[in-house]
Amino acid sequence: MRRPIVLGFFVALAVLILADAIAARAGVVAGFARSDGPWFWIASRAAGVTAFVALTLDVTFGLFLSTGLADAWIPRARSVELHRWLSASALALAALHALALAGDRFVRFDVLDALVPFLSSYRPFAVGLGVLALWLAWIVHASFSVRRRIGVARWRLLHYASFVVFVLAAAHGLLAGTDTARPWMTNIYIVAVATVVAMSVIRVARSHARRP
Ligand code: HEM
Repeated sequence: MRRPIVLGFFVALAVLILADAIAARAGVVAGFARSDGPWFWIASRAAGVTAFVALTLDVTFGLFLSTGLADAWIPRARSVELHRWLSASALALAALHALALAGDRFVRFDVLDALVPFLSSYRPFAVGLGVLALWLAWIVHASFSVRRRIGVARWRLLHYASFVVFVLAAAHGLLAGTDTARPWMTNIYIVAVATVVAMSVIRVARSHARRP
């Protein structure tokens, strides 16, 4: 009984937020007040960077699982649990990253900018790649729960989309980010890409070696 009420509340809230964004774009309502300070911008960037780190760890951990490299140290069930937790954390941080932008007076994002790829007036292409990454990451995460229903083969095919999410998120951060040229951020991108590429090479080599 309580579940439909909670669900109904969130659906109504989502419809209200969407309707407000559309009405503000049409000039019917004034749109909500935004902060003058840099705090939302800083919070969004911090959440974006941590989301990217969590996503990198998530993809790397998935590759540890499929290559069996972590099996000697961590029981498999624990590894799967950690992999799911990293996936959920990356999603939550990315959502926070997008949400915080709504409070910034300079970019003036609304919910449509965060949901519709390439709609934002601020760096539309680069931001669009981030929106696509978020949608795809959500689909991959949701597929954890329907694995039995769709079958392992289909689930695995869907799970390969994680690589697309990683590439989209890396391209998005590199192209949209204020901090891209700072040495600490450049190093994060280099280490992240090198780790995922190296682990993918190991994964492909192992699956070839296993074939009769
Ligand atoms: C998986 C999803 C996402 C990840 C991992 C991600 C990650 C990142 C990273 C690492 C940066 C660079 C931060 C910096 O250089 O300080 C960034 C910048 C940015 N992202 Fe995302 N992002 C994602 C989704 C989104 C979405 C859905 C939006 C749309 C609202 C968005 C909007 C932006 C904007 C406007 C910037 C530029 C901020 C700046 O100048 O630093 N991102 N993102």
